[in-house]
Formats: sequence, structure tokens, C-alpha cells
Amino acid sequence: MGDLQITVHCDRKVKRQGDLFGIFFEDINHAADGGLYGELVRNRSFEFNAVDRPDYHEMTAWNVVERGDSVTQAHVETRRSLNTENPHYLVLEVMTEGEGGGISNEGYGEGIPVEENKEYLFSCWYQLFGPNTGEMEIHLEDKEGGGILGKAVFLPEAGGWKHFSCKIKAWGTNYGARLTIVTCMPVRIGLDMVSLFPTHTFLDRRNGMRADIAELIRDMKPRFMRFPGGCLAHIGSLDMEDRVSMYRWKKTLGPVEKRPPRRNSWNYNQTLGLGFYEYFQFCEDIGAEPLPVISAGYDPHHLRMAPLSEMQEWVDEALDLIEFANGNPGTKWGAVRAEMGHPESFHLKYLAIGNEEVGDSFFERYEIILKAVKEKYPQIQVMNSASTGSAGSVFDKGWEQARRTRTSFVDEHFYQCPEWFLANVDRYADYAAAPKAFIGEYASKGDTWKNALMEAAFMTGLEKAEGVGLACYAPLLCHVDYKNWHPNLICYDNHRVFGTASYYVQKLFMNYQGETLLYTEEDVINASDTETPDKTAMDFSGKIQFVTERAQVDITDFCYTDCETGVTEKAENFSISREDKKHFCLSAFGSNYQITFKFCRRNGGLAKNLEGTSCFELEFAGKDEENKFTWIFDGWQRLTLINAFVNGHCADLGLYEFESEKNKVHEAKLIVEGNRIRTYIDGVTYCDHICKKPVPGRIYYSAVKESNGTVNVKAVNPETEERLVRITLTTEENVFSDKVKLVVMSGFLLEDRNSFENPMLVSPAEMLCEWDGKAFEYRLAGNSFAIMQFQVKGSSQ
Ligand code: AHR
Repeated sequence: MGDLQITVHCDRKVKRQGDLFGIFFEDINHAADGGLYGELVRNRSFEFNAVDRPDYHEMTAWNVVERGDSVTQAHVETRRSLNTENPHYLVLEVMTEGEGGGISNEGYGEGIPVEENKEYLFSCWYQLFGPNTGEMEIHLEDKEGGGILGKAVFLPEAGGWKHFSCKIKAWGTNYGARLTIVTCMPVRIGLDMVSLFPTHTFLDRRNGMRADIAELIRDMKPRFMRFPGGCLAHIGSLDMEDRVSMYRWKKTLGPVEKRPPRRNSWNYNQTLGLGFYEYFQFCEDIGAEPLPVISAGYDPHHLRMAPLSEMQEWVDEALDLIEFANGNPGTKWGAVRAEMGHPESFHLKYLAIGNEEVGDSFFERYEIILKAVKEKYPQIQVMNSASTGSAGSVFDKGWEQARRTRTSFVDEHFYQCPEWFLANVDRYADYAAAPKAFIGEYASKGDTWKNALMEAAFMTGLEKAEGVGLACYAPLLCHVDYKNWHPNLICYDNHRVFGTASYYVQKLFMNYQGETLLYTEEDVINASDTETPDKTAMDFSGKIQFVTERAQVDITDFCYTDCETGVTEKAENFSISREDKKHFCLSAFGSNYQITFKFCRRNGGLAKNLEGTSCFELEFAGKDEENKFTWIFDGWQRLTLINAFVNGHCADLGLYEFESEKNKVHEAKLIVEGNRIRTYIDGVTYCDHICKKPVPGRIYYSAVKESNGTVNVKAVNPETEERLVRITLTTEENVFSDKVKLVVMSGFLLEDRNSFENPMLVSPAEMLCEWDGKAFEYRLAGNSFAIMQFQVKGSSQ
């Protein structure tokens, strides 16, 4: 391979790095309730409902407590409620006190985490029915109710709804505890908003964040935070009063007891205790620019859209949000922010409209909102959507529209196999400087060191590309007992938390992001062997078969042609259906062939809500179940797409608008040639894709400069062999201190991953090395990622 000489021109600044690396917070996997939000009581306002999830009800997570001979009942009522936003409350009736009657909450996951000597803030709203009766006790106790870990008492007073709060100091530890309200007096009492927070939250804010999770996020030093979600932001009905409405930020403000319950589209209940005010505050607390995502009045999952004549509501959603964030307290929405405790502006500069939408209906609505924003707030930088895919006609449309409307950023998303990330390090090298790419969601499919390493290589490409403005990994958080998605950056249960291997890579890129990109040159020296030329051709040999899960499709006139020999092979006409899910045609040889066939969808295939499996797929180049290509017909959002599977992990190669017509015979053609895949339907070209492969032996690197002159060189070696890297800094002599700080992730197996048991298995190590101030030689281990920091003399880091 030879050694790699990298020359860093310390005074040749290529571009400013801006807010390049940030985070994406979505309330998925119980990221908010039961996660970052510090509340320990689950279903605190008795608003859980089967609409949120079929097995939910008003008493979810609550149990009646009857000790000794106690006879106690509890039910939920809505008459004479605390407010109309959260109408349900609990009526607790202790008829025979016995050794205590009451109610107990299970908390999230394993239970309520209680730790010795820690303090908890209990609060509730109550309404006593009847005269004053006597004390009630609030216990932190074990699951069985035998062991009390902390307690407080309160004396309810008659006379309408009243608020009570107190601190409870725990004298024992139990991570599966319960919060119990119990009394030894007969009582009939209404309870609502029963809440328990650790008194220590992140920065000790009231209604605050769980400190350990928030600190891991803060430690990354993200430059921006995208929130409140991707799909979460746009799935739902158009009526903001609906429980199942799209995410409407105005509903998330004000006193927590007045924030209405909502169905989280990830199939659970969302209390909105973490609302837009808290998100903005958190961004400020961690030094991240806020980047809210709002819907354009368009739900791509169910094809719901606001009539074009009624777009003002959605325009206001954007304009009012900007006023809420930035307006002075004399404005309507600025006053709401000030009233909540933040008279100063939150300095919002980014706004995303939409998430992964495709098609004209979205763009029409987007443009109406964009125009209004640009007129009133020309300084706000807006981002649109480029679909869920990494390429294709719907992806291109997002870019074309952005150029035409002078949108600042185009939001690209991709969840691909690690190999794709390595092969696509240079994906952005040719992107124009404007509009910029906002990689609003990306992750390689897995949480091992291999995934993180490939992402690190990819991120050097993001650092170097003029056309990339912002990038954030997705999703950020996952409560392991409520997993909707895998992988995630930070995992936790009710009391433990760890960052994945990707977390540490993200953290290093953010911590050492630098202010400007420096110009670099490379040279391979001491190459002992002859370098093998890059072989770009793919191996498209393997099984060709048709597959369906839920449609009935007739396939006729199937013909395979080997383009090198001209030999053709035909198949009898056949049908695939729910009953006959697969039809094997033949095994192809080589990388240069063509398949033609006709298809006719007889039944099924288009799911009502556009989710679910595709109509049918043509699998080709199938080596086994885990390694193959698929051409999908009528897939997600009724798109046709090409996917590549590597070791069971998928990478999309492009999404295209096509919807089959029932009972119509369509003609399809697939051509593979070298590394190129082309598809045609009814004579129209859809996919025309060049498959990329990583360049063997390549070291991926970048060099950036901090505002104080410090230079950070990042280098990723994705191969197993160690490489000698020699860094030369072109600058005046005696600028840098005589020690290089090394931050290294190496020595792990590719399949290593972090866990609760071994949370730092894959994490960086730091060391200092001497150097002569001119050239620094470093043996970059196989499968490693290293940052070499050259600090300016006298600078403090
Ligand atoms: O990050 C998880 C989901 O993936 C997001 O909600 C959505 O935008 C994407 O499809």
C-alpha cells in the first residue's frame, strides 16, 4: 500500500464549517416521555387511550392498592375536571381503610428508579370530595409494597382543585420502585397530574430533562438540533384539535397540565411535557442552533392535505413559530415565550418545512409557506425535502424545486448498509455550494464498530464538501424497553445510559469540528507493491426470482438475455400471489445481462395508508437471502425503487414515481452492465444508477482549523492493515506546541458494540505525543479512527 504523506496547508482555508454537525431529536423509542423528559410517572394525567395504542386505557400503569382489609376503588372521571385540555382524572375512594388504601404508579420500563440520598419532587392536583379527612402518605416503595424507600405526607383540603408539591428524600435504592399514594382514613378524592421528578434535572430546570441523558447529548457539542421529529412531525390529521393530529407546536406550550394528550405516531402516548419551549431552551443550554420541523399541511403517509385555499393556517404555523422563537415580548407569540420565562430571543435561523415528502402536492403547499416566510423573515434559512431515498426522480425533484425557489437547504435522508457509506464518501464532492445539502437523517444499519467506522469515513467526506451545510445522525435516543427503531445513538433504560460506537464517532466529529476546512494534498510514498487498479464492475450473477407478499400479479413473456453471448432464455408465463409467494426463474451469470417481462396486477398491492410491503419485487443477483438486489414495484409511497442488500442490510439506490394500474399489462426491462443498473417501465427510463465500490487501500482524512489556530487532522483507516501516515503542516516555524494530542478509536473488533454491561467498550482514548513541529508520523492501526490535534503554543483547549 505504501505510506501516506498528507500535507496540510495551514493558511489555505477552503471553507467555513458553520453548524455542520448536529443532532436530530425525535420522540421515537420513548425518547421524550420515559427518556429525556425527567418525569418518572407514566400516564400522570390518566389520559392514556386506546387511540394511542390498542392496549392503553385511562388506568394504564396505575394499580389500586388495598392493604390488610382495605376496600378501595379507583375510576376515571371527566366531570368537574381540572381543565378541558386534560379532562380525565382519577377518583380514589377508600371505603374501608384497613392497613391502607390507595393507588400506585409503575413508572416506565422496569419501574421508578429510586436512589438512596437523592431527592424527588412530587406534585399533584387534587380535589377532595367531602370534608377534610386526614393525612395521605406518598411513598416511594418497592414493587411488592413491603419496603418503603422514602415518604412524605400531605393533608388534603376541601374546596375545589388544589395543587400540592413536596420533596421526598430517598433512604434506599431500588430501580424498579413504585410511587404510591396511600391513606389509612376513608376518603374520596380526585387526583390529576400526579408527577414525580428527580429534583436534580439537567441544569436543575423545573419540568426538566433527565440529567445523565442530557449530559451525554451536551458532551457531543452539537451545533444544531433538529426537532421534534421526522415522521412524527407530519403524520396525522389536519385538525389540530384531534388527538391524532399532526404535531402542532402551539399545543405544546404553557402550563404542562394544559397541554393536551396526543397519539404519538410511533404507537404510544405523548404528554407534550417536553414541548417547543423546552426544546428551544435545551438548544440554548447545550449551545445548539434550534432547527424545528413543521408540516406543510400534508401527510404523505395517508395522502391527507390541506386544501390549497386553506393554507393560511399552515402559513401561520410557520410565521407564528418564528415569532414565538424570535419576536420581542410585545408581539403575540413573543409574549407567550416571555410568559413562559424567556423574554430574550431564541435566535432561530433555520426552519424545516416537511420531512421526506415527495410529489407535487407537497411542493405546491411548501411553496406557499416558503413565500410567506421569505417575505416576512428573509433571513430565515428554510429546508425542503428530498424524499426518503438517496437518489432517484423524487429525490431530484426536491433539488430542482429548491434551486427554483431559492430554498437554502435540501433535506436528504438515508439509512444504508455500512458498505454504502464507505463507497459514498465522495458523494457530495461535486455538489454545488447552494442550495446546500442538509443530511437531516442518516445512519448505517447497525451499532457495531464497523458501522461507526464507515460512518467516520463518510463524515470526512461531509467535512470536505462545499455543498454540505448540516448533517445529523438519526435517531438520537432509545429506551431499550420501548424500541421502535434500530440503531440509535444513545440507549438507556430507566437508570442507565450508554452511547453506541457511533455516538463516540459523532462526538469526536462535533468536538473537533473546527471552524474552517484546510486545503490538503496527499502522496503515497514507499509503495512496495504495484497498486491494483480499482475494479469497479459489480457481480450481478445469481438468482432471479419474483416475490410478492400480498398481491396477485401475472408475469408473462419473461426473457433473459446474456448480453455478452447473446444467448436468451425464456420462461413459461406464471402468477405470483399470497399463496404462491415466490417464482424462481433462473440463475444469471456475469454482470452483463438484460431481463424483459410483462406484468399485470390483478389484485392487492397498494396498501391504503401507503405503508407496508410492496406490490411485488424482482430479485436479481441473489447470492443468498442476505445478499441480493431487489427491484420493487409499488413500494412505499407507491414508488418503484432499487435496493441492494449486503449481509442483510439494505441500501436504496433510487426511488421513482410509478404506480401500476390494476389489470393493465405493463412492460418492464432491467439491464445490468458492469456497474450500471437501468430499469424501464412501458418504455420510460426509471433507474439509471452507477453502483459505487470503495477504493481499496484508501485512507479517509480531513484537516480543519479552530478559531485559535489549532489544527485537527482526522484519519480513518477502514482496512485491516496498519498504515503509516505522515502529516506535514505548512506554516511558520514554532507555531505549534511540541506535543500532539491524539484521540484514537482503535483496537476493537468490527463486531464490537457498547452495552449497559460494557458501555465504553468502543470509545476513544487520548494521549500526547512528542513531535518536531514539522512532520508527524503516526501508525494508523487497521480499522481505526484517529484525530491528531496540533495545538497552537500557549492556546488552552
Ligand atoms: O428516524 C426515524 C424515521 O426515519 C423518521 O421519523 C423518518 O423521518 C424516517 O423515515
